Amino acid sequence: MTPTELAAAIPKAELHIHIEGSLEPELIFALAQRNGLSLPYASEAALREAYAFTNLQSFLDIYYAGASVLLHEADFHDMAWAYFLRAKADNVVHAELFFDPQTHTARGVSVATVIQGLASACARAKAELGISAELILCFLRHLSEEEAFATLEAALPHREQFIGVGLDSSEVGHPPSKFSRVFARCRELGLRIVAHAGEEGPPAYIWEALNDLKTERIDHGVRSLEDPALVAELAKRRTPLTVCPLSNLKLCVVNDLGDHPMKRLLDAGLCATVNSDDPAYFGGYMNANFTQTVQALDLSREHVITLARNSFEASFVSGARRAELM
Ligand code: HPA
Ligand code: ZN
Repeated sequence: MTPTELAAAIPKAELHIHIEGSLEPELIFALAQRNGLSLPYASEAALREAYAFTNLQSFLDIYYAGASVLLHEADFHDMAWAYFLRAKADNVVHAELFFDPQTHTARGVSVATVIQGLASACARAKAELGISAELILCFLRHLSEEEAFATLEAALPHREQFIGVGLDSSEVGHPPSKFSRVFARCRELGLRIVAHAGEEGPPAYIWEALNDLKTERIDHGVRSLEDPALVAELAKRRTPLTVCPLSNLKLCVVNDLGDHPMKRLLDAGLCATVNSDDPAYFGGYMNANFTQTVQALDLSREHVITLARNSFEASFVSGARRAELM
């Protein structure tokens, strides 16, 4: 088996997937029709043509517009179920899904609708596909601390349906420290902590995520390589990085997959993992990310095995299921 074939076949966990970023144009149009909404695009092809991004913000504008077709519990269920079917085909056996409640509550959709729709799809994935799945609630960092606190309050009646919290959306100008108090409260509640940092933002934001938010993983973190002391700290703590190669390419964080830092991160001894981020928008699900990275960087079989093992080590799975996966 070549490294590429092994990358496709090996069982793996996905730890950085925004479930709203799995919404394919076909489902966006189907949900718009089901919900009696009109879209500012004439066809699925016309929508896909708009997927030419220059940076994170140019993507986020279209991503939030796409999510506007989600209104009812069944819409959230159908979106997540479509993702799980696709993940199964890529030999994903465990997934931790980010969701953005504020994207929906701003349109009058309740947190209960969002969480119940997603949670029922997670239960179905376990029962019908053998995929274990958990939810991680993300705060939108371009919004205020006060709005993050209100979102947490609204979600607390559903506390048992999500295992942790994260921080996403526009990074530059919204450092992790803006949410120090929110995350302190989340830690008191026993929630697991992750945060996007070092995608477009500087290494200083990764330090803040570690020290102020006490994050257990860094989402992206590719800019950590600019700071040798940070790399040493991440290696010492064995803080995982959930890296998303095709996202980095599509959002112009790297100009060519051959320049992607994945191999340097692994060779520096960091617990890096491969993930799809927003697969409907960035041109590929888990195996596309895995196999294209293996080919572009000429990764070895050992690298592939390390990446798969890292995905389970970095996961929040515990108990018997962890023993089964590791
Ligand atoms: N970065 C920040 N926020 C996001 C992303 C991302 O890659 N995808 C969806 N929300
Ligand atoms: Zn992300």
